[in-house]
Amino acid sequence: EKGGYDHFMLKEIYEQPDAISDTYRGRMLVNENLIRMAGIDDNIEKFLNAKRIIIVACGTSWHAGLVAEYIFEDIARIPVEVEYASEFRYRNPIINKDDVVIAISQSGETADTMAAINLAKENGAFVFGVCNVVGSSISRETHAGAYTHAGPEIGVASTKAFTTQITVLTLIALRLAKQKGVLSNSQFNEHLRELEQIPEKVKKALESNEHIEVVASKYKDAKNFLYLGRGFNFPVALEGALKLKEISYIHAEGYPAAEMKHGPIALIDSQMPVVVIATRKGHYDKVVSNIEEIKSREGKIIGIVTEGDVEVRKRADYVIEVPETLESLTPLLTTIPLQLLSYHIAVMLDKNVDQPRNLAKSVTVE
Ligand code: F6R
Repeated sequence: EKGGYDHFMLKEIYEQPDAISDTYRGRMLVNENLIRMAGIDDNIEKFLNAKRIIIVACGTSWHAGLVAEYIFEDIARIPVEVEYASEFRYRNPIINKDDVVIAISQSGETADTMAAINLAKENGAFVFGVCNVVGSSISRETHAGAYTHAGPEIGVASTKAFTTQITVLTLIALRLAKQKGVLSNSQFNEHLRELEQIPEKVKKALESNEHIEVVASKYKDAKNFLYLGRGFNFPVALEGALKLKEISYIHAEGYPAAEMKHGPIALIDSQMPVVVIATRKGHYDKVVSNIEEIKSREGKIIGIVTEGDVEVRKRADYVIEVPETLESLTPLLTTIPLQLLSYHIAVMLDKNVDQPRNLAKSVTVE
């Protein structure tokens, strides 16, 4: 049932090109320059009248929410707040009738996310679900929703759910941007065309697998890892660190690259591998200077870079390339090497990749 792969996690990492195209199939009509999503189309006024969107989720789904915050604000110019469901529900949050709440959950069964949804509904908000499991509790309790169509995710560490959540949320942001007229027809079309190419580009990113295995063997015995990224790729840094913690039990932290100088830089020495997402679009020069700062403290640098990169390659111990795309879509590509890196490290350390200790696939306790 693992389709020839050693683990479900690896199978699911490799399923991402298909999972992403399954997610946009039938919804994104490139030649007609259209996005059609029943859950959005039927409730378009609610979205357009919303003063803000509040995203609630946990874990990896919360990271997808953070990526979506950058995408919604950049593409659709709608203010977004992203909340841990568990914090939101216990905080006496301010929720208004004209708020739209988006709940993201792979399993659709996460107790804290469900409680946040109920609280939002009690306060009159419109609640939209982004779930993977069809017919799950959250998909039933929300007013409307869009499935990710990633197919069953068995590995406890979430992989294809994350990239398909980002895909759905990107489609929603584009749909709203078009309706609001904040993107021209040609800008909108450019986004659709780029999104359509993402599955092929994910395949290309997966071709670095063997090289990533080499990188993994080099750093598998490290006690700590740091992950840095900026903008759209800051949440990807968080997600990379979470993946490593979950399945290899190595302590890892994700940070916005520019925050390094406000504290974490004190951790850097020759024993500290730092994974830096340094794609060409998105404050590249600033990230290159962060890399200089790490290097001058003898930190080890693994750069996630755009194909053909020169500047990071000159300075890093290893680089892993991903194809070029629009900046807002880079998380769909930069995530791939981070998934593979944590996978290979966990395998080399002989950990139970698909069922890490202390973790369950759906967290139905509060
Ligand atoms: C990480 C992971 C967890 C889940 C979190 C939310 O790999 O699997 O952090 O993302 O428990 O789960 P869902 O998305 O099912 O609500």
